Amino acid sequence: MCGIVGYIGKERASTHIYDGLSALEYRGYDSVGISVIDERIHTIKRSGRVNTLKEYLNILEGRIGIGHTRWATHGKPTQINAHPHNCGVFSIVHNGIIENATQIKHNLINNGHTFISQTDTEVMLHLIWDNYNSICSENSANNSTFIDMTVDSSAHCDITEQVTIGQQPNTVMQEGDCCMDPAYLVLLAINRALAQLSGSFAIALLCEHCKDCIFVAKRSAPLLIGLGQDNAVVASDVCALGGGCDNALVLADDCVGAVYIDKVCCYDINMDAVQLTSMSIEHNRVQHIDKQQDYMIMEIGQCPLSIQDTMAGFGQGVDMVSFSRFCRTIDRIMLVGCGTAYHSCVTAKYLIEAMANVSVEVDIASEYRYRNPIMHSKTLFIAVSQSGETADTIFALKLAKKGGLTTMVITNAPTSTITTIADYVFITKCGQEVGVAATKSYCGQLAVFISLALLLARIKLNTDTTSLEQQSALVHAQAKSIIDNQQELKALSNIVADSQSVFYIGRNIDYATALEGSLKLKEITYMHSEGYPAGELKHGTIALISDKSLVIGIVTVKHVADKTMTALHEVKARGAKVLLITCFAQYLQDEVVDYHYLLPYSPSLFMPLLSILPLQLIAYYVAKGKNYDADKPRNLAKSVTVE
Ligand code: F6R
Repeated sequence: MCGIVGYIGKERASTHIYDGLSALEYRGYDSVGISVIDERIHTIKRSGRVNTLKEYLNILEGRIGIGHTRWATHGKPTQINAHPHNCGVFSIVHNGIIENATQIKHNLINNGHTFISQTDTEVMLHLIWDNYNSICSENSANNSTFIDMTVDSSAHCDITEQVTIGQQPNTVMQEGDCCMDPAYLVLLAINRALAQLSGSFAIALLCEHCKDCIFVAKRSAPLLIGLGQDNAVVASDVCALGGGCDNALVLADDCVGAVYIDKVCCYDINMDAVQLTSMSIEHNRVQHIDKQQDYMIMEIGQCPLSIQDTMAGFGQGVDMVSFSRFCRTIDRIMLVGCGTAYHSCVTAKYLIEAMANVSVEVDIASEYRYRNPIMHSKTLFIAVSQSGETADTIFALKLAKKGGLTTMVITNAPTSTITTIADYVFITKCGQEVGVAATKSYCGQLAVFISLALLLARIKLNTDTTSLEQQSALVHAQAKSIIDNQQELKALSNIVADSQSVFYIGRNIDYATALEGSLKLKEITYMHSEGYPAGELKHGTIALISDKSLVIGIVTVKHVADKTMTALHEVKARGAKVLLITCFAQYLQDEVVDYHYLLPYSPSLFMPLLSILPLQLIAYYVAKGKNYDADKPRNLAKSVTVE
């Protein structure tokens, strides 16, 4: 959540920062801001999306700057709460959460600081400023020769005159008040502040005393540094680094750094100089598309290819000899994820248990990490995360590693944080997903799980999976036929849009699909919706059913199909309308069915790849019909880097 970017180079920083923020907008889009530094720091910030800054780029002239696109945690998405926050000689952007901000703020207020925003970021900045003043005072008291600093630090210049700059505390460090390298003093101030902070964060900071660098620090939040030919960029994600860098330097947790145009000076928690690790990056820039088309519909259209490529690429880059050897020994699999990734885990439980007879447990990452889970060495732990940056999933994975489990991740982001932690990394071959609602990445995750289920069936049960593998080669073509004939689903979306509540029900893997179908609808249309096991409705939830309800029954698993049909009869008797989505033509004639959609038939192992597509398309067309932005639904962000 929140995207940060910084640029140092020979060109106007604001333009590069704007491009970076546009690429990072998937991380949050409720407010936005840029600070640049020339003789002074200039800041512009607005509530709203990144493009609200476009008209101001020409007046921000500095060659060094930082920017931020926000997903609000502390304080409403107002202009005042937007980043960058300024105080003293500093301007900061921050991604993360400071958990002890209230206590620190209280102490700082007692020390004379005043705050203008509700954010934890402003608290962090004042803490750095406080430490900086103390360090400079200590330093000047110990030295009689002052260096001559040529910077005028009197005040920030606010070009738009709409941003109030943070108040300075009573003690203000003056120019020339210290004799050490000012950049080192800033780094020391950040280092000391970090020791007082709990939570997760990545920051970029400008200082009017050091006009040739950007200061950075991080803890449990992503921050990459790219050094190009004549520029340096810092960013939350590879996609904002720009085309000029082939490698990214990775800042370790609790390190602080000063990024210059041609080098980075980095220090660890003890302020000992450290070398940064470098990783090569694959630029996965989003292609600009015809703006008539939303990313979401384009990405649903890419589901068939994602399925095909992910299945074909299963195990690429993984030591499959060692992985298979370990899999032979396991008697349990533990799956964790959040949101859609969790739903792919629920599907996988049914698939793997049925195919390979291995016991599978599933948990939501934010629950797993706080429940003191029992860990056995014969367990394969699998974390699933499209972005590879979801805080809860990363912490759950770290916990499993600490508990001695062998770990695997399924992710769509080859350079993400999660890939640096797990023993085995399986990449979904979906290409970057921009729409906030996960669509093709869900299909990619299912494709990995299906391939894993087949592998486990072979190595644990000696199952001959040849015919299933042949069948798998046909699935993407069946998926494509659904995409190609989406007009029928567009028409069905009107029925959905007219309902007061929409219930998705199913059994076995269809229950997992119901969960995901419901999530798609609620997140982009803001309609009330629930995904339920079909047999569970009458234990309470059926009380909600009325003639204003629509119940979508998903029926693709033969041995429980009749039972879901029975549940549809029960809701019909209470006035609900029924939409049946099935691959079994015989149920279409059932008297309770008001509307239907017939899926192509495939073995049940593959059906979740097909049955989710009409649900994604229906959700998309409902959102379009209501004139909502399906790519950027309210209150959401694509990458949830805070817990
Ligand atoms: C829903 C959606 C979210 C994500 C969840 C986990 O469409 O996108 O529910 O699935 O935030 O994100 P990742 O997979 O990046 O860990």
